[in-house]
Amino acid sequence: MKSFSSADSDLLEEIILHRRDVRGNRFLDKAIPQKVLDKILYAGVNAPSVGFSQPWEFVLIRDTDRKQAIKASFTVENRKEAAVFNLQRQESYKKLKLEGIHEAPVNIAVFYKPCEHPVLGQSSMKEVGRYSVVCAVQNMWLMARALNIGLGWVSILDPQKVKQILNAPQENQLVAYLCLGYVDYFYQNPELEQLNWEQRKDFRDLVKEECY
Ligand SMILES: Cc1cc2nc3c(=O)[nH]c(=O)nc-3n(C[C@H](O)[C@H](O)[C@H](O)COP(=O)(O)O)c2cc1C
Repeated sequence: MKSFSSADSDLLEEIILHRRDVRGNRFLDKAIPQKVLDKILYAGVNAPSVGFSQPWEFVLIRDTDRKQAIKASFTVENRKEAAVFNLQRQESYKKLKLEGIHEAPVNIAVFYKPCEHPVLGQSSMKEVGRYSVVCAVQNMWLMARALNIGLGWVSILDPQKVKQILNAPQENQLVAYLCLGYVDYFYQNPELEQLNWEQRKDFRDLVKEECY
């Protein structure tokens, strides 16, 4: 049985605390070697999944025209997204850089592929297959950080448009659209915290003893 030391758990904590969402303002124009990319994907496919269903598929996107089509969806959705905030927040929102589709050398679309047969553990809570895919994304995010590669999650997209652009099977559902690349700098704190968009919640306010 493999056992870890306190130095190991301290290192894991460091990786967790230094993980950042990276947008186009920080990516470098430097290719990620396939071996390195495979290490990130391998971290993803080793995530836990309900009933060991492994309900994930990944599409690697490097082509400029394809990225352009995805970016067009971002532009449309971003306009709609801004409109949900009050006028003062809209002004701040418009200044935010919320994707790195072109700047990142590689984009990865992560799909949930529903299982054709019943999955152990997925009858009472139907959404747990999708949660499994999110576990894969988090593994990728942490491994990318451990490799000093930035990763940004872009959710301001029309999932149907993305499916169409990527020729995805009808039954697949887009869970995450990720932009990956080397960076010039990893921020110490979330960018949205630095820009006073949101503040980090106090750990103690989030944990209850026994019940609410
Ligand atoms: C499900 C999900 C969707 C997200 N979508 C976006 C997005 O569309 N654009 C963006 O700039 N950041 C996006 N983010 C990144 C968050 O803004 C970021 O995680 C948060 O501000 C905390 O910063 P940190 O990841 O650097 O700690 C997303 C994160 C998650 C988990």
